Amino acid sequence: MDSGMGKPGSPADRKGSLVFSRKVGENCRHIAVELSEATAPSAPGQFFLVREWGVFDPLLGRPLASTVSGNCRLEFLFQVTGRGTSRLASLTPGAALELRGPCGNGFPAPVGEKLLLVAGTLGIAPFLGAVSALGEKVDVTAVLGVPGRGWEPFTEWCEDKIPGIRLNSDDGSLGRRGDPVEDSLTLVGPGRELWGCGPEAMLRELGRAYEKGCEKVLVSLERRMGCGIGGCLSCSITTPSGMKRVCVDGPVFDWREVFGEPLRN
Ligand SMILES: Cc1cc2nc3c(=O)[nH]c(=O)nc-3n(C[C@H](O)[C@H](O)[C@H](O)COP(=O)(O)OP(=O)(O)OC[C@H]3O[C@@H](n4cnc5c(N)ncnc54)[C@H](O)[C@@H]3O)c2cc1C
Ligand code: FES
Repeated sequence: MDSGMGKPGSPADRKGSLVFSRKVGENCRHIAVELSEATAPSAPGQFFLVREWGVFDPLLGRPLASTVSGNCRLEFLFQVTGRGTSRLASLTPGAALELRGPCGNGFPAPVGEKLLLVAGTLGIAPFLGAVSALGEKVDVTAVLGVPGRGWEPFTEWCEDKIPGIRLNSDDGSLGRRGDPVEDSLTLVGPGRELWGCGPEAMLRELGRAYEKGCEKVLVSLERRMGCGIGGCLSCSITTPSGMKRVCVDGPVFDWREVFGEPLRN
């Protein structure tokens, strides 16, 4: 079966209806949306701008990575961090949503047979679809980092979706004590590709995997978004190879493309 990986579809605006909204721990939600029209399949790391239909405060949709993308159904996992995500979290089944996507490039299908996924908290979202899309073709290991106590419902949910996921926590209460970068660096080497998603400080550190002979290190960046389709420049970053728009040139970049020298924007 064609997984759709590495073949991003073009973004379009669609109406959707909230199927369910479930709490995954204190501040996180897993939602499913039924679309009025089928969307192109999205590659892991592609995202949608999501907002309540017909509500203009806040004005802009919030970028969320699709965790499951199938024909007329999308799923998302998000943390409530501010006004936009609070509004989304308050909606009940049947609520109408506006979704623009799939936006961005997404992670291309891995070249090798061994893939390491490294996520900081909600950075796991784009990888949930990847694990099922890759199936048995690729040997996938997933590493997740969380602060610790209080994150049990979230890590249990992730363990259910990705059996065998390696947990790391700052306080040592969940899995290994420490950060996911150090854990992942014990696993990298020639023949391995690494994908990272999470806080930028974590992504920066993942470049050390290249020093350990890793074939390819790809990272998914986060920036505030306006249009999501390359027109407003609000997501621009300065890289060693010039200005890039995270929404269309990314959000997935080769680590060297953005961290070849300090990232400024
Ligand atoms: C490509 C992409 C995919 C994403 N996928 C997910 C996902 O699957 N799940 C998830 O929980 N979050 C994801 N995010 C982050 C999510 O978009 C932000 O948390 C959200 O837009 C915050 O909106 P808000 O109105 O709730 O918060 P605001 O009130 O706008 O801001 C609250 C806080 O969040 C920070 N913030 C706002 N927007 C962003 C942003 N785009 N990136 C980083 N920090 C931000 C602000 O600086 C502020 O500190 C993604 C971001 C991008 C760019
Ligand atoms: S969000 Fe408008 S150019 Fe990227």
